[in-house]
Amino acid sequence: MIYHSMELSVNNFFITTPIYYVNAKPHLGHAYTTVVADAMARYHKILGEETLFLTGTDEHGDKIVRAAEKEGKTPKEFVDQISARFQNLWPQLHIANDRFVRTTDTQHVRTVQAFLQKVYDSGDIHFGEFGGHYCYGCERFYTEKELENGLCPQHLTKPDFINENNYFFRMSKYLPWLREFIAETPDFIRPERYRSEVLAMLESGALEDLCISRPKSRLTWGIELPFDKDYVCYVWFDALINYISALGWPDHKDFRAYWPGEHLVAKDILKPHAVFWPAMLKAAGLPLYRHLNVHGYWLVRDTKMSKSLGNVVDPLSMSQQFGIDAFRYFLLREMHFGSDASFSEEALVSRINADLANDLGNLFSRVLSMTAKYFNSRVPRPKTFQEDDRNIADLCADAIRNYIQLFGNVQFSQGLESLWELVRALNKYVDSQAPWSLAKQGNMERLATVMYVLLSAMRKTALCLWPVMPQASNSMLEQLGQTVNQNRAPVASLEQEADGLNGMEPGTLVASSSNLFPRIEVKKKVSSQNNKSTKAQKTVDISKETVDTTTAIPVVSPKETVPFEQFKGLDIRIGTIRKAEKHPSADRILRLEIDFGEGVCRQILSGLAEYYAPEDLVNKRVCAILNLEPRKIRGLVSYGMVLTAGNDKHLRLLTVDQDVPDGSEVA
Ligand code: MSP
Repeated sequence: MIYHSMELSVNNFFITTPIYYVNAKPHLGHAYTTVVADAMARYHKILGEETLFLTGTDEHGDKIVRAAEKEGKTPKEFVDQISARFQNLWPQLHIANDRFVRTTDTQHVRTVQAFLQKVYDSGDIHFGEFGGHYCYGCERFYTEKELENGLCPQHLTKPDFINENNYFFRMSKYLPWLREFIAETPDFIRPERYRSEVLAMLESGALEDLCISRPKSRLTWGIELPFDKDYVCYVWFDALINYISALGWPDHKDFRAYWPGEHLVAKDILKPHAVFWPAMLKAAGLPLYRHLNVHGYWLVRDTKMSKSLGNVVDPLSMSQQFGIDAFRYFLLREMHFGSDASFSEEALVSRINADLANDLGNLFSRVLSMTAKYFNSRVPRPKTFQEDDRNIADLCADAIRNYIQLFGNVQFSQGLESLWELVRALNKYVDSQAPWSLAKQGNMERLATVMYVLLSAMRKTALCLWPVMPQASNSMLEQLGQTVNQNRAPVASLEQEADGLNGMEPGTLVASSSNLFPRIEVKKKVSSQNNKSTKAQKTVDISKETVDTTTAIPVVSPKETVPFEQFKGLDIRIGTIRKAEKHPSADRILRLEIDFGEGVCRQILSGLAEYYAPEDLVNKRVCAILNLEPRKIRGLVSYGMVLTAGNDKHLRLLTVDQDVPDGSEVA
């Protein structure tokens, strides 16, 4: 059994990204998934399919309430603001999603309630007592087996043991069926390694029924259960339903036209998509999705990207510096879908220079300027094809066929490599045919054929590149004299292009020059990373020299004792300084913007100006009291106090000796 008795949307393609949490700014990882989804949608468009591309934001949960409170905003005001950042980013990366779903949309809320009611009515939701290890950071229960040394594997904090009555989805009922289905359907989850991981998960026996409610006494910012107003829905159960709420399930024609679709996620959220979601769909009597496409993680210099390490890559800044389409090309070319990849600006620059400036850019530039010189920028009419020309025609057809097949199997990097075999062969063909010699010899017939072969193959290359570099592809096509409609796919069916060197009309006027991908010159700059480490090293040395070696330990504190409760009332947390600058009108004060994992940075003023240069503070981890009454200092308000140690001569910031997430409590 693959699909239920539903009208299938055979020629329509529906692709989704995860809906992103609104507690962090969009970063390279979010951009990658969304660029890949965009490329997949565009790829299906050039195959002539109707496509629908959905992304969005996941906006419920306790973390949001806390972050909003801290900013003096209502949860809705807070989520509106952060969701807008995602919505505004995508067009700036040439991403053309058709829909943007938010879990706070009324339509989504209604759909989740209808779904819950359906599953409840069919008897797959039961009420029961439950005791579990609850991590507030993750907003989920962990089983004993899932904890690492008794700690939450994500936050490395000890979860609370909570005993309460809740609603459960009878997921366990569907697990044997799911195991069999995945075993029989090889590409349901791809690449293979993730399918094996899910099968192992299902065989381990560790999966149980899923707790799908949270009592309102503990959490209110969620979707109310339609059958019990004292409970809200567990965020994951709510979030997964976005994939059909955005299609107007159950009645809208879009649902009939586009479901089942394809999902694209990273390995971090494999379990909810590979286990919870199919079981939920099955319980609601709906067809399963077609494929779950799972990619690996972008690492930064082989380290996990994290706010606390201060190594989060901003996709907008990368694309502004290096070009949007060049950045998209790099993302798709550099990561082998399914495996992790390492991001560095050096890798980005060398990929752009090698593939785009040298290979592709150079091909366009030399062929167009020769067409201008020898044929007045008109595509010449070819004469007899020789063996070399036929080889290029064959290679071109093979490259397109391979490209189509590999992209269809989410092997984007390999698909691009196959296209680059053609690009490199075309450059070699220029060298071996030497059009300048043919011109010198006056062999205009042969020269016309050679130039025609080149221009035709370049047109096909540009068409293939539209999913990856939409704007650059359009520019290439325009340079080749093709009519381009910015809002439409440049070709009705790419498959028809894999058939000889057709499609280029002799006589077409082409551009006389091209400078699509200028080479990026790397300035030899001393890496700021190195700078910092030397300075950090120096700081340690200085502190060693000036450390007070008094060994007398007072038995009683010089200050009065305070009740423990008073200490517990302080909200002391770890954060990362993102920005530091001088207070505009107070010499001794620095204005800091510190990230405590609240979604936005907090402004704290501190008398550090004599002890630290502002630039040395960026990325430093600090400890601060967050719940002191806000204090105004010369026109600016401080929302907390950073903790320091030392004296007037030598003051140092308190920090942590190992990595813990921003927002971790000091207790
Ligand atoms: N809200 C949930 C998803 C619910 S979907 C029904 C969530 N949100 S998230 O903001 O944490 O986004 C996770 C996704 O962001 C990953 O699955 C991946 O698509 C992307 N990435 C986040 N960090 C990443 C990397 N370092 N590398 C690659 N992609 C990553 O989970």
